[in-house]
Amino acid sequence: MKNRLAQLIQKDGKALFLPIDHGYFQGPTHKLEKPGETIKPLLPYADAIMLTRGVLRNCVDPANTKPIILRVSGGTSVVGEDLANEGLITSITEIVRLNASAVSMSVFIGSKYEHQSLINLAKLVDKCEDYGVPVMAVTAVGKELEKRKARYLALCCRIAAELGARVVKTYYCPEKFDKVVEGCPVPVVIAGGPKVDSELEVFEFVYDGIQKGAIGVNLGRNIWQSEYPIAMIRAIRAVIHENCTPKEAHDLFEQVKAGKA
Ligand code: 5RP
Repeated sequence: MKNRLAQLIQKDGKALFLPIDHGYFQGPTHKLEKPGETIKPLLPYADAIMLTRGVLRNCVDPANTKPIILRVSGGTSVVGEDLANEGLITSITEIVRLNASAVSMSVFIGSKYEHQSLINLAKLVDKCEDYGVPVMAVTAVGKELEKRKARYLALCCRIAAELGARVVKTYYCPEKFDKVVEGCPVPVVIAGGPKVDSELEVFEFVYDGIQKGAIGVNLGRNIWQSEYPIAMIRAIRAVIHENCTPKEAHDLFEQVKAGKA
């Protein structure tokens, strides 16, 4: 367990996870039509990649040594009835065989499927703990993005940790994010959400989230949907691992974009 966690969370206690699992419920997402090609230039700057077994098997070079966070919940789609109605989609044998450094599963607290998703999480933790595989819980909101407020997120993170998640991924919120982190006894990483309007906005929320106790990010669309994904990931990495301010990160972004760094 400790060895796998050390693969994910770096010596400075921080982490940059790059998720490309979006296809598991929304199909060929913009800029992720060919996930293997999307991540190739970004891999050197990520501490781990998060994806499903199908993409791992078909789109990632088996010689890849970047730690894998395997998405193991699913069974719903954006055109289906309810995104919250997820189940476990990958066996523990497969998780171990694919050499995952961790697994991730969504919980949908406050939804019609709250109980089901929390029991799924608890059962997954039971199986994974036997093999020393950390579970990262994802506090999902489905299509209800307005739910992303401190009180709700704090509730979700705490419940996920109480049920045994070793890491929790949640959304950043501008107000009282420190309360979300403080109430959660395991490390918290910030999810990105839909692409925002400016690069600076991303650096600002990542910086603020880190100042308020998050250990890093699990951030996808705001990186690989950018016109300059390498510049984005390098600038975000600088905020996480080099303590850069949003302005310094933005300067680095501009330099990389201009081919000067
Ligand atoms: C989808 C996920 C994604 O991994 C997560 O939302 C992070 O990606 P993005 O920054 O694009 O939101 O868990 O359910």
